[in-house]
Formats: sequence, structure tokens, C-alpha cells
Amino acid sequence: MAADARRYFDNAATSYPKPEPVYAALDRWARDWGATAGRAAHPAAVAGSRLLFDLRRELAALVGGDADRVVLTKSATEALNLALFSLAAPGDVVAHGPLEHNAVMRPLTHLAAARGVRLVEAPGDGHGRVTPDAFARFVEAQRPDVFVTLHASNVHGLAQDAGALGDICRKRAVWFVLDAAQTGGCLPLDAAAMGVDALCLAGHKGLLGPTGIGALVLSARAAENTRPLIHGGTGSVSEKETMPDFLPDALEAGTPNTFGAAGLLAGVRYLAERTVADAAQCEAELRGRLLERLRPIPGLRIFGDDPGPAVAVVSVAAAMAPSDLAHLLDERYGVAVRAGLHCAPRAHRFLGTAPAGTVRFAPGLFTPAKVIDEVVDALAEILRSPS
Ligand SMILES: Cc1ncc(COP(=O)(O)O)c(C=O)c1O
Repeated sequence: MAADARRYFDNAATSYPKPEPVYAALDRWARDWGATAGRAAHPAAVAGSRLLFDLRRELAALVGGDADRVVLTKSATEALNLALFSLAAPGDVVAHGPLEHNAVMRPLTHLAAARGVRLVEAPGDGHGRVTPDAFARFVEAQRPDVFVTLHASNVHGLAQDAGALGDICRKRAVWFVLDAAQTGGCLPLDAAAMGVDALCLAGHKGLLGPTGIGALVLSARAAENTRPLIHGGTGSVSEKETMPDFLPDALEAGTPNTFGAAGLLAGVRYLAERTVADAAQCEAELRGRLLERLRPIPGLRIFGDDPGPAVAVVSVAAAMAPSDLAHLLDERYGVAVRAGLHCAPRAHRFLGTAPAGTVRFAPGLFTPAKVIDEVVDALAEILRSPS
């Protein structure tokens, strides 16, 4: 049975549905071209190279990066690993925020064990956002070499002032790695203006592409310091048994994911035409309506209820176990939400919701506003009559 697109409230995991041109691009790529990009000179292979070139150019334009320093990855996780394994040297101090996803904490924990990297957590405000004033003092005291943090929380949706944090990093020569998995396509991004050295993006969330593709957008300085995680064929400098030393080939071993690229390019084009500002406005309205409807529900704890910049992601906790609540929402009303720790146990410890976690509501660009009301009514009804 296909998912009910209207009641799909799990867009923070993967956006669904996608805009029609994304489905059309995937189908067209598979039927009309389908070849390996960058490996041969026949028309289908050249079309693949062109596709990757267009994606780098148009994605860079959307997020304020340089097309020559866009590395295509399989996920935001791979982008984060590439950045962290490259920029955190043995013995370095690496700072992170209080809300990080395991896509950040697991590579960092590994680097601490394998390279003796020392991890320090920057202080958060009541919602766990790293505020610029506190961060400036923290940087003075701890002198980190690298700072990695998420842009918006995948648990409660609130965003941090990445531009102000980036300014502080720039002044203190701290590498700034931004996990924009939740904000790519959802909030306006300008990596260069924000002082981001490594912008890590997921293709399948707000950028509206399919799963299996992400991107790492590097500053010039970071590009010189980023090293491959995997080694293999690139279709270039094939006479050598070492990796090419130029981007993107140096960091993109193996057959490129042209299917993912075709879908992601269509998502990027959709957003460029609609504008990210308009998508952000839509996210803000969905979030506002969700919060407004949730507030009167008795006994409900709401996370992320704050007027600051945010994406359309809100978490709640009630007397019932999050997994039971999610199950009843699905079983009785066909509403798809995600319960538990959302791969961010640190965020839940900070919010006081570990180990059970929360129920997360993440509507998307195509969620009709009145469905928000229906879903919140469903939640209220379950809490009134659980059995
Ligand atoms: C804040 C955050 N960072 C990183 C990731 C990892 O993204 P991906 O699974 O696409 O690698 C996610 C995915 O949920 C996320 O929400």
C-alpha cells in the first residue's frame, strides 16, 4: 500500500512526496541515458558528465558555494565524515553543540579513540542552541581547532545563528563544519557569507531529491585539506594507482550516482524557481500552525516552541510512550510520524527526554494546512481515549 502523502509527517527523515519533476527526471534518466558518467566519450556518458556538472553548478548557486568545490556524496553522513576525518588532526580539540545527530557524534567518538582528538561541548541556551555570545567566550577558553554543529535540530527544528558562529570561527581560525541536513532547501543558506568551511547536505530531505545522494560544499581553504575516505576509479588520471589530486575526483571514487543526481538536480531546480525564501516561509507557516494547535492540548510537553528561525519540525512528549503514540497515530489515523531518539541521543539527554525520546511531527512543503489540524485533532483524541 502506498504511503498517504497528505498524512506523511516524517519529512525530517526523508521528504515525501517529491515535486513531479523529480519523479519525471528519475524516469527520464533511467530510460534515455543511464550510462556511467565521466568514463567514456559516447553521448550517454557525456550526458552523465553534463548532469553532474549542472548539479554542482546549480546546487552551489542555491547554497552559496563554488561549483568547483562541490563534492557529491551518498549522504550528509558521508559529507560529515569526509570533513571531520580531514580537518580534525591527531590531538586537536574539536567542539560541537549539545544537540548533535549521531552522524556527527559517531565519527567524533571514533576520532577521539583513534586519533586522540579531545571533544568539548559548546554551551546551549534553554533549547540547546549555541548562542554567539556564549560561543565567543567558549572559543576563548577552549581554543578549539574545529567546530561542528547542526544548523537546525532534527528533534525540535530550531535553527542556530550559523552566520554569527561562522564569524567567530573565522576570526579565531577555527574550522567550521555545518551539518545542514535539516536546512538545505528549507532555510536560505549562503555558505561563503556564513564562513562555513564544510557545508554538509542531505539530498533527500529539504532539497527534495531521492535517497542515496548528498553533498559536501567546501571553502577554498578546506578543499586543500580534505582527503578521500575511499579510494578507487574516477575515470581520470587512470594511468596512476593513486587518487587524482584535484576536485571533485579526489573525493569521488567509484561510479557516480547519476540516478540520485538526476533527481536531486530536479529538486534543486524546483527550489530555485520557487525560491528557498518561499519554501522557508511555507515551513514557518506549517510550524506556526502546528505549534498553535498543539499548545492547548492538556499535559503535552512541546519542544522547540520559540519564535526564532526554524524548520517545520516539532517534537512532543505526553504521558504515553512515544512509540505507542506513534503506533496509534498510524493505526487509527494513517499518520506517519517518527518516535524515539531520532538518531540524536545527545539532544534528547539535553532536553530531558532520553531514553524514550519524543514523537516528532515534520510536515512538508506539500502538506495542506488543514491536515495539520486533522493530525493534531487525532493526537488529542488518542490522548483523551488511549484504549
Ligand atoms: C541533523 C542531521 N544530521 C545528519 C543527518 C544524516 O543525514 P543522512 O542520513 O542523509 O546521512 C540527519 C538525518 O536525519 C540529520 O537530521
